[in-house]
Amino acid sequence: MEERVIVSGMRPTGKLHLGHYFGVIRNWLKLQEEEGGKYIFIADWHALTTAYTQTQELKRNIEELMLDWISCGLNPDRNILFIQSQVKEHAELHLLFSMITPKSWLELNPTYKDLKYNLLKLGEIKEKFAHLAERTVKEIIQKLEIKIEAPKLLEEILKEYLAEGITKALFEGAIERELLKELNIDKKALYSVDTYGFLGYPVLQAADILIYKGNTVPVGEDQLPHVELTREIARRFNRLYGETFPEPEALLTETPKVVGIDGRKMSKSYNNAIYLSDTEEEVTQKVGKMVTDPQRIRKTDPGRPQICPVFTLHKLFTDKQTLKTIEEDCQKAQIGCVQCKQILAKNINTFLQPMRERRNYYASRSSELWDIFREGAKKARERAQETMEEVRQKMNIP
Ligand code: TRP
Ligand code: SF4
Repeated sequence: MEERVIVSGMRPTGKLHLGHYFGVIRNWLKLQEEEGGKYIFIADWHALTTAYTQTQELKRNIEELMLDWISCGLNPDRNILFIQSQVKEHAELHLLFSMITPKSWLELNPTYKDLKYNLLKLGEIKEKFAHLAERTVKEIIQKLEIKIEAPKLLEEILKEYLAEGITKALFEGAIERELLKELNIDKKALYSVDTYGFLGYPVLQAADILIYKGNTVPVGEDQLPHVELTREIARRFNRLYGETFPEPEALLTETPKVVGIDGRKMSKSYNNAIYLSDTEEEVTQKVGKMVTDPQRIRKTDPGRPQICPVFTLHKLFTDKQTLKTIEEDCQKAQIGCVQCKQILAKNINTFLQPMRERRNYYASRSSELWDIFREGAKKARERAQETMEEVRQKMNIP
């Protein structure tokens, strides 16, 4: 059997929460105990496909992710941990892959189709706002006491500004997120991401994986189309230039849905997340604010743990025995929500404790973190260079 080579990455887009932990990190931690190559990297170039206007945040986000990873227990002795942009060979392979990837493959990618849809939608919304703004602007101009040379022109300009302003406020969160949801717009439309780089996102991902001849890609379900495209690119390359790359497979493991403190899926954009870097007090406070069974108003009302977000979280952090007791006591109104939440907060804090210790150590030693990732990049680069030599040779590039 061929050796398992694992490749996975994560974009540096802000601190990690419990959803990330149970979604991806936990799988990495399991896999790191096994033999075989494990290339785990911070996909900073991928982050730039959408956040290219916020490069001032990039370094901080990378550092935050390094700290999150190491705190979680990702072991640099068992994984090759590195930053994508420190292994420039990814870019070379991306370029060569871009020569052989039909545009239609990329245009059919769901992420890209969603984007196109959002951009259309955004255009429609702007038009709507412009329409609404028209009357207001006219009235304002009429009320002005100064004489205006070209009122029509001013009207046009103001209308445009106002529509722009409202749209921008909408996306920068100055206007309620709920409204965004109502309008069915994704945050991605915030950036103008109708770029070459964004279209090519999966090509870069294919290069990330294939440059290490990765055959196993532990990712979330949302990444399946990208892995499929990687397989197609590998197949095409092999057909054109001779057998070179494996056809990697996604490794999906059961990933429980982690609920946020409001009962919806845990997500930064919902503002409902418990972060791995939260302090004990923050965790206790957030859990204290969690929604419970809405029909349980008094402590004497029997509760329904099966629909209660607090109980759903308990399942991840509380031992089976206690879980059973809580379930029964809740149904019989023998435990209050306050006490139930206290137990949960305590258990989450116990779970986070070892992470906090590692975090404390590295938080003031960021140069050690950079060293770890630089060392990783060195090892990754060696392997990447081997593959690139083979690729150039097969493609007759001198
Ligand atoms: N696209 C992945 C994500 O958003 C990140 C990623 C980039 C990745 N390159 C990769 C994941 C290669 C696995 C393998 O989560
Ligand atoms: Fe939810 Fe716990 Fe209250 Fe029951 S006791 S409703 S499980 S918070």
